[in-house]
Amino acid sequence: MLPATPHPVSPIEALTEMRTASDLLPIGRIATASNASFLCELVGAQIPLQVIYKPIRGEAPLWDFPTGTLAGREVAAYMLSEALGLAVVPPTLLRDGPADLGCAQLWIEHEGVQRAIDLVNATDESLRPIALFDAIVNNGDRKAGHLLPLADGRVLGVDHGVTFAVEPKLRTVLWGWRSEAFTAHERAVLERGAALLGDQPSDGGAILAALGEQISVDEIAATRARIDTLRAAGCFPEPSEDWPPLPWPLV
Ligand SMILES: Nc1ncnc2c1ncn2[C@@H]1O[C@H](COP(=O)(O)OP(=O)(O)O)[C@@H](O)[C@H]1O
Ligand SMILES: [Mg+2]
Repeated sequence: MLPATPHPVSPIEALTEMRTASDLLPIGRIATASNASFLCELVGAQIPLQVIYKPIRGEAPLWDFPTGTLAGREVAAYMLSEALGLAVVPPTLLRDGPADLGCAQLWIEHEGVQRAIDLVNATDESLRPIALFDAIVNNGDRKAGHLLPLADGRVLGVDHGVTFAVEPKLRTVLWGWRSEAFTAHERAVLERGAALLGDQPSDGGAILAALGEQISVDEIAATRARIDTLRAAGCFPEPSEDWPPLPWPLV
């Protein structure tokens, strides 16, 4: 078992440390990862924290995503999760590291993959915010192993490299709520998304500008369109007939 990051730490504190650390010191390689991924210590940080660092140079090429864009998608996923008030993604940013620019994400102590599998099989309500988030960002790879159950009952999601495609690509193990009506809170999240990404953004355009640094104009427009589709439907989506709805492997 790899050493664990102290938890909880506020996202702002974590981002500050992740941004200002003089260097990322690799202390392990994530053997199961499909892209080059390293567990790193933050050199010179005020709070001892660890991050998973995925250098852009280590991204495995994919047929359906432009090469070198996965790290930016991970950052965009974090920013949108925060902006929507969902808080389902660990603090994530782009920064320089030993293999040049990459995404750095706070390493999170969690209850393990078996707990995640049990929650998925039980269609546990703690996963519902992630199911909504995935429908919004068009997540193409929500495996059980990309769910981190915390000791306090919340669950975070990781590995958002294949998100924000323009074409529908939702591929997930979280189909337990398909066609189920959104709660008032979920509808409020969608309204907030529509207001933030609308023609007259409720935050003055800050999140649009931040997303624009990581994903394309078309991908932002498609995100807004997915939010509008979900608002109009009022319920979680059904699996598509044109696209494999389950990731493989499932974990
Ligand atoms: N922020 C994190 N905190 C704790 N564990 C993580 C974190 N990010 C990833 N992991 C673990 O590392 C594994 C590999 O990371 P992942 O992001 O899936 O890499 P890849 O893009 O190569 O598939 C994940 O399946 C998960 O078990
Ligand atoms: Mg992965």
